[in-house]
Amino acid sequence: MYVLGIETSCDETSAAVVQNGRRVLSNVVASSLSFHKKYGGVVPEIASRKQVETITPVVEDALSQARLKPKDIGLLSVTSHPGLPGSLLAGRSFAEAAAFSLDIPLLEVNHVYGHIYSSFLNNSRIKCPVVALVVSGGHTSLFYVKRFNNIQLLGQSQDDACGEAFDKVARILGLPYPGGPYIEKLAKRGEPKAVRFKCSETKNPLDFSFSGIKTAVLYLVKKLTDNERRTMSGENIAASFQETVINTLIKKALLACKAKRARQLVLGGGVVANKRLREKFKEASGAENISCYFPEAQFCLDNAAMIAGLGYHQRLIN
Ligand code: KG4
Ligand code: ZN
Repeated sequence: MYVLGIETSCDETSAAVVQNGRRVLSNVVASSLSFHKKYGGVVPEIASRKQVETITPVVEDALSQARLKPKDIGLLSVTSHPGLPGSLLAGRSFAEAAAFSLDIPLLEVNHVYGHIYSSFLNNSRIKCPVVALVVSGGHTSLFYVKRFNNIQLLGQSQDDACGEAFDKVARILGLPYPGGPYIEKLAKRGEPKAVRFKCSETKNPLDFSFSGIKTAVLYLVKKLTDNERRTMSGENIAASFQETVINTLIKKALLACKAKRARQLVLGGGVVANKRLREKFKEASGAENISCYFPEAQFCLDNAAMIAGLGYHQRLIN
């Protein structure tokens, strides 16, 4: 079955065609990021206006890249929540009209669950049950996925999301938005043990807290004298911050695997584009005999392929 996925939860307008839940035939993503950059974050009104403008050509492009006609599509899968209300509405309205005119079922899926699914795309080796860690700009959550209609939340961020912390620390260091890729680049030239940062403890050991470490970076940068600034470079701060965050994510993800006796760990979300994170996760999970899976780079950030793939499985099960 060919599933058309539509994703418009934040600044992206994306449409994708996925065959039988795993094989991605097309994944078109149009981002309005360049219109938001000067504001240092996504402006909801700009995002939804751009989505209304671009949704039709993006869907047409996804169909033509998959070499399919609208009548070949058997199911439409669209992001229902969480996300910016105006942006979600732009995608949902289009999907409702398209499903009605094509006379095919419409399934609404959860965006964060979509990120869980991104590692399963183009990869037939992974099978449920798995522990899943989603680390994006809006969410940091650990799940136990028994099946795609049986997903249990094990822990989540109590304050800032992980990607949000990368973005805020980047801003403190004078880097552009979104900051994650810039922190990663700067960190390559730094020493990860230069500053001793720490992520705050949480009552539930599988929850996360990133606002404390972000504030620690802010105080450190504010306190530095001109002389210290010469030795305590942005490179070292970025590398130490990144290392501490990655170590915390690894510790909690492996703890969740242990608690659920899971031998497979899947990662998803924008922060998983980070190469240092991937290397360290591979190494740490390998040492515990746990197979760790990452999405292809194009499926880390928001995309409709993950929505189409998840929709296929949820439709089959329900
Ligand atoms: O999944 P995503 O597109 O957004 C949400 O659904 O929220 O992820 C965007 C987030 C941003 O916070 C961005 O800074 C972060 O992912 N990010 C990274 C990297 N690339 C993107 N964080 C760390 N390292 C990266 N290479
Ligand atoms: Zn997302």
